[in-house]
Amino acid sequence: MENETPVLEMRHLVKTFPLNKKQRAERHVDTAKLFAVNDLSFTLYPGKIYGLLGPNGAGKTTTLRMIATLIAPTSGEILYRGSPIQKDISAYRGRVGFLTSELKLDDFFTPSYTFDYMASLYGLKEDVIKTRKKAIFDEFGVTPFSLSQIKNLSTGMKQKVSLAISIAHDPDIIIYDEPTNGLDIMASRDVENFLEKLKNDGKTIVISTHIFSLVEKLCDEVGIILNGQMALQGDLHELTKERSLEEVFFSLVEEDAA
Ligand SMILES: Nc1ncnc2c1ncn2[C@@H]1O[C@H](COP(=O)(O)OP(=O)(O)OP(=O)(O)O)[C@@H](O)[C@H]1O
Ligand SMILES: [Mg+2]
Repeated sequence: MENETPVLEMRHLVKTFPLNKKQRAERHVDTAKLFAVNDLSFTLYPGKIYGLLGPNGAGKTTTLRMIATLIAPTSGEILYRGSPIQKDISAYRGRVGFLTSELKLDDFFTPSYTFDYMASLYGLKEDVIKTRKKAIFDEFGVTPFSLSQIKNLSTGMKQKVSLAISIAHDPDIIIYDEPTNGLDIMASRDVENFLEKLKNDGKTIVISTHIFSLVEKLCDEVGIILNGQMALQGDLHELTKERSLEEVFFSLVEEDAA
């Protein structure tokens, strides 16, 4: 892996949020700043899936939102193929596909309309949109539902629509926050197969999840985040040579609590 050229390098990322009085009381702290992400560094390579694991509130979503440029880091930097992403942020955004459960599809639109709309925001031409939509919708099994209102679709189908839209512009970096959250095992398997395919296509992928089996099946590298810091990261097979990923995770959590 070291021989490969990194696609994205996260260097010493920090993100703080101001805490108001009520939040300070709820969290039993008296500091005015919350370090949601506190000095995270990791690197992504093409054709590899990096899995972020961590308890609720560890900083996974905040990290992914920084990589997707939805929020700016307080400090630290992100390099895309060697240059800071701010250098040409709109070009960078055009290379990124992002998915999070916080972004909801509009219930009253159809998958077809939503795909066209999002793809046009990325500046794709009408004929390109049509061709890509057909190929992606066919592949995901979305085609029979493409003209139904999104509110009438199952959770699994909605997620497939979201995944389809996230790759409308053929990004080379894929950032998925809990991509199988709330899905049944069949829908989860479809998402896994989809991720596997993106990986085999040479995409650079980072996901967050609470599902160990997903990481064990799919990820090449894993990073365990505790309190905004990287408690452990490395090659999945190296880390799980002697113990299961779950055992590794719990021993870190226990160490941290002690
Ligand atoms: N906009 C914000 N303002 C204030 N605090 C925030 C904001 N966004 C996140 N946080 C806080 O930052 C910390 C990290 O949150 P984050 O959502 O990144 O965690 P997570 O690892 O994704 O958790 P989960 O597994 O529950 O999704 C939490 O304490 C959260 O409450
Ligand atoms: Mg989250």
